[in-house]
Amino acid sequence: MDKLVIEGGKPLSGSIVIQGAKNAALPILAACLLAEGTSTIEHVPRLLDIDVMLNILRELGCRAEHVGDTVILNTETAHTSHVPESLMGQMRSSIFLMGPLLARFGETQVYQPGGCAIGERKIDLHLEGLQALGAEIEEIGNRIICRADKLYGAEIHLAFPSVGATENIMMAAVLAEGRTTISNAAREPEIQDLQRFLNEMGAKIMGAGTDTITIEGVQSLTPCTYRVIPDRIVAGTIMVAAAATRGQVTLLNTNPAHLSSLIHVLRRAGVQIAVDGDIIKVGCPGRPRAVERVVTAPYPAFPTDLQSQVMVLLALADGVSILKETIFEGRLKHVDELSRMGADIRVDLNSAFIRGVPRLYGATVEATDLRAGAALVIAGLAAQGKTIVEQIHHIDRGYDCIETMLGRLGARISRYSPVPKN
Ligand code: UD1
Repeated sequence: MDKLVIEGGKPLSGSIVIQGAKNAALPILAACLLAEGTSTIEHVPRLLDIDVMLNILRELGCRAEHVGDTVILNTETAHTSHVPESLMGQMRSSIFLMGPLLARFGETQVYQPGGCAIGERKIDLHLEGLQALGAEIEEIGNRIICRADKLYGAEIHLAFPSVGATENIMMAAVLAEGRTTISNAAREPEIQDLQRFLNEMGAKIMGAGTDTITIEGVQSLTPCTYRVIPDRIVAGTIMVAAAATRGQVTLLNTNPAHLSSLIHVLRRAGVQIAVDGDIIKVGCPGRPRAVERVVTAPYPAFPTDLQSQVMVLLALADGVSILKETIFEGRLKHVDELSRMGADIRVDLNSAFIRGVPRLYGATVEATDLRAGAALVIAGLAAQGKTIVEQIHHIDRGYDCIETMLGRLGARISRYSPVPKN
């Protein structure tokens, strides 16, 4: 297994262009199935999760090439709607294929994507939404078979504004007969990006970004060329890393509006942030201040995907901060690893009580999930001495060569791969 070795204590400095958003690209790639022909999706990051999605699409019969940051995807040759269990298990986002496959083939067979390191991650809202559109769903053990000769528009109220369920229902409803309304829909920027993409293909969707999305079903969609939005979580990770190392970094190709809750928290911590168009400048000349209370919640509130990274900054801040996780029940596992680096953090249920320490110390730590791994990298960059981060395949799921990206900002970070045996 690869690991990252970090010599900490060097402030990050310089400028960096932010990659395309993984969480926008994944549903968009799945949605390409809705229009037979070749779509070109630009600004798609080179990540493990994207590789898995493309492999699943190839397995379904599509032809897919990822050249630079452009994916050329021909879905005309797709011939099956059955996703193999082995591929389904590699990534939760494979569940996004249900809506498009059902809409295109009138049936699909997938498998439970299963639990994962950050919590249970149920799919009941996805299934209920598809049922409301007229699908019959049969669950046999781990297998989910979903059939509908025809899908019909429906009024769907989500018990929780699930990002994935909102996207899956949108993708199934675009080719349904009549109007679908999703109330209490998730409002994340990635949902707005999916709406823009589907409308570019000829769909009639309104309201993404608000809590009510309306979809007027259309007969067919046509392939198109589309550019994915910048990754707000990668941008946020770099912003926190710049602040935690007391550096000075300029981020290019961002959408600052997507980062307003993070910018608010960082400013409260005393971090200097200047926004100019799609450029964000972050500087932190002194020790950050504690922030009394940060609570994760659906967009536009503070994102769960930046909780672990911000915890590192608060672990180094002057004073006591409270960070509460409300989206995923198992998302505070990085606390044990940060404690091994000298952080003073106590967990009670889903809240972390963080007493800032003047410095962290290098240690060997383990990435327990994608964003926790990013947090440990930030901790290593800010810490005194050497940090080794293990299990970094989690990090590769969401960051396009994190060591190259941070190396360009002056970080002393390298990847070690095991020597292959002859
Ligand atoms: C997406 C993001 C992920 C982010 C999360 C929350 C992608 C590929 N991933 O994940 O990075 O952390 O949003 O912002 O876009 N839930 C149910 N039943 C369901 C669906 C969800 O109970 O059918 C619960 C989940 O267990 C969780 C909460 O809803 O507690 C949020 O999940 P959801 O918004 O669906 O997240 P994902 O789409 O999986």
